[in-house]
Amino acid sequence: MKVSASFLSINDDLEKNIIKLDKTTIDYLHLDIMDGKFVKNKTWDIKNIKKLLKNTQKPKDVHLMVSNIKKYVKQFRKLKPEYITFHYEATKNCFAMMGLIKKYGIKVGISIKPNTPVEKLNPYFKYLNLILVMSVEPGEGGQEFIPETIDKIKQLDVIRKANKYQYLIEVDGGINNQNINLLRENNVDIVVAGSYITSIKGYQRRVDKLKADITKQ
Ligand code: DX5
Ligand code: ZN
Repeated sequence: MKVSASFLSINDDLEKNIIKLDKTTIDYLHLDIMDGKFVKNKTWDIKNIKKLLKNTQKPKDVHLMVSNIKKYVKQFRKLKPEYITFHYEATKNCFAMMGLIKKYGIKVGISIKPNTPVEKLNPYFKYLNLILVMSVEPGEGGQEFIPETIDKIKQLDVIRKANKYQYLIEVDGGINNQNINLLRENNVDIVVAGSYITSIKGYQRRVDKLKADITKQ
């Protein structure tokens, strides 16, 4: 299981602290992009993000919490991310958005909010590289993990096995060393962790704790 780190909750010296995060043993940098429309908060535009990430090496995992998906895909593809994930709830035309992301040679993910059932993704399963299950309401870091998420993960894993689908399962929100094992046991491939890692100065210590729990049998 891989760890994708969100820097949404870092409040000071962002550029410096992102570099510090990048130097830990995390697997991905998770970019939480919010437009003030799909969710009420607004985060960085492409210009700022380019500046913030210019000295980082980790592969990028872009999580778009935006209404105008097309516009943001066209901008954020310039970062050459490994994944761009958009929200099912933000568009009536998932196929067009998937096509656009794939056209740029980027792996595509769809995310579902806590109240969106897994079945809504039926038409897309076979074409997706990743499904991002939100374990908190999108919009801010530091919230508590919603336990019902586990049922959705189990369902996605069963569907994947039964049909030999290729999508990875990523889970985002409220993840810490207390609940990470439950995710591993349910075959989650990538966990997003934000405030658990960045709420103390020693990021690597927190990453070690997550990774130790991942590998513990
Ligand atoms: C929420 C974001 C998450 C979140 C993760 O809208 O998508 O990535 O910031 O942060 P924690 O781990 O603090 O919940
Ligand atoms: Zn996120």
